[in-house]
Amino acid sequence: MYANGRPATPARKVTVPEIRARKRSGPPPIGWSPAAPAPIAMVTAYDFTMARLVDEAGVDMILVGDSLGMVVQGLHNTIPVTLDEIAYHCRAVARGTARAHVVGDMPFMSYQVSPTQAVESAGKLMKDGACESVKLEGGEEVAEHVMRIVRAGIPVVGHVGLTPQSVHALGGFKVQGRGDEAAEKIVTDALAIERAGAFAIVLEAVPPDVAARVTQALTVPTIGIGAGAACDGQVLVCTDLLGMMRGHSPKFAKRYAELGDAIVGAVKLYVDEVQAGTFPGPEHTYKPNHVPGEARDVSEMPRLEEVPAPDMRH
Ligand code: KIV
Repeated sequence: MYANGRPATPARKVTVPEIRARKRSGPPPIGWSPAAPAPIAMVTAYDFTMARLVDEAGVDMILVGDSLGMVVQGLHNTIPVTLDEIAYHCRAVARGTARAHVVGDMPFMSYQVSPTQAVESAGKLMKDGACESVKLEGGEEVAEHVMRIVRAGIPVVGHVGLTPQSVHALGGFKVQGRGDEAAEKIVTDALAIERAGAFAIVLEAVPPDVAARVTQALTVPTIGIGAGAACDGQVLVCTDLLGMMRGHSPKFAKRYAELGDAIVGAVKLYVDEVQAGTFPGPEHTYKPNHVPGEARDVSEMPRLEEVPAPDMRH
């Protein structure tokens, strides 16, 4: 599918109605078929190269998450990430994506102020970021914002449970929905966002029984991260999945590879070879103009007066 670093023939994109139809359990949505469809596989990506690889691997959705603040920028949380930064990374991801649906994450304070601000920010991500839908965090308190964005023709993914933009209000990156009241609040929030028109909802860091309850209650798919197996799909941060992060990683972040170690090993080898003078070898070097030690045939070299004058017209 990929030639010269770019998709040769544009693949057919995964569409919003197709994602809605991936609802596996709970009340049947419009277009639902009795045979349970495969769960949705979503992953984050922040640049062209990663987007191209995860797209080639067959993910359904790519999220340009505000987690880029922590993964790409090295911040402690996602709060400082700006709309322009998300749009910049979305553009790069969109260029690398032939098939997957690209979701742009709305960063802190790009939508909370008012429904009008939310529509303007979502519009900017669609126009400047070339994404195909937007995601925003929150429940009932942002339902009107979601409704206004959807009315503007922009598909919305909701995000309830642990909402990292509220890290200080929540007292840290902690599991949400423990206890009956807190669980009930998550169900209520998810229903409010569905009613507002979201076509899928991310459920982050909630107990599996709460995620199952939400999934049963909704007609749109739930996409879990640290929310157990009952969700209609799963999302992971690409660098967690690939084992590129150092230090603590959350319990739910299964490492499918150890690319961090592989990168360190490869770069160490490169350093060793540069220092030993064994890189670059002849196979990584262009053909020389003149082989050292070989006599040049002076008779074949043009005399100065035979060298054509440069064409100065251009
Ligand atoms: O920003 C992000 O990467 C996210 C996922 C963790 C769902 O919101």
